[in-house]
Amino acid sequence: MPVRSDTAVLRGLEPLVLQALSAPEYAAGTASIDRLRLAPVPLVPEVRLVMAEDAIVLWARLEAEAGHVLPPPFWASAWTGGQGLARYILDHPDTVAGRHVLDVASGSGLVAIAAAIAGAAGVTANDIDPYSIAAINANAHANGVELTLSSSDLLDGDVDGVDVVLAGDALYHPSVAARMLPFLARVAAKGARVLVGDPDRGHLAHDWLERVASYEVPMSGAPEDAQLHLTSVLKPRRDKVDDRRGRATRLRRESHHCRTRE
Ligand SMILES: C[S@@+](CC[C@H](N)C(=O)[O-])C[C@H]1O[C@@H](n2cnc3c(N)ncnc32)[C@H](O)[C@@H]1O
Repeated sequence: MPVRSDTAVLRGLEPLVLQALSAPEYAAGTASIDRLRLAPVPLVPEVRLVMAEDAIVLWARLEAEAGHVLPPPFWASAWTGGQGLARYILDHPDTVAGRHVLDVASGSGLVAIAAAIAGAAGVTANDIDPYSIAAINANAHANGVELTLSSSDLLDGDVDGVDVVLAGDALYHPSVAARMLPFLARVAAKGARVLVGDPDRGHLAHDWLERVASYEVPMSGAPEDAQLHLTSVLKPRRDKVDDRRGRATRLRRESHHCRTRE
């Protein structure tokens, strides 16, 4: 069983979605434009994901068949920011190898799966959308990796026991960015390595983050990304991280220095 999680979150989801995720090639009908299919991610062909040909059409169809409003199927696309971050992790496996990783706002699970392939000691994929949890479950199986799934909203708290926090295209909306950036700043201050994948949708904290890599992304991904061809991987600037551990050490040294001078 490659996925460990509180699978209770999967109960109550539309059977239609679960069925489509468990047999993506057939469930949605081969003739429809919005069909889900298991396909390699353009910038990260090592990973295959269940993706929609047209996520907007898929959303409309799922809502029509469910008879009520559903969250947008973010999980049905490999977002430009996540593709760049996953590419970076596979090209720099030492970033995560042997470490405990949290992929926040995981969507399809692309970044989490890349971290698991790159040799992370353990990977938690977190997303508040239960349909995303179902998709990550399916995608982890498809790629033969083990993930822990979490559907909790972590952004107002702290996380413990995590060495690396990854956030692929998690700054896609001002209200999400307004909570995500302080969360990332807090975990960085506690000593976790933070990496952000983002095509600059206008909510990046340029004064706090610095670019470590850029990638051209082939035409693909979410419908919103049709005009986005360049994506970056960023990390907190060293001088901007409120490193509480470092500050405590400095304060101890300074007070010791003062005492020895007295
Ligand atoms: C634009 S998608 C990016 C998905 C994936 N990381 C990628 O790059 O393909 C953003 C995801 O953030 C999730 N999200 C929004 N608010 C969240 C929160 N407070 N905690 C965790 N995930 C959240 C959404 O459900 C969605 O799946």
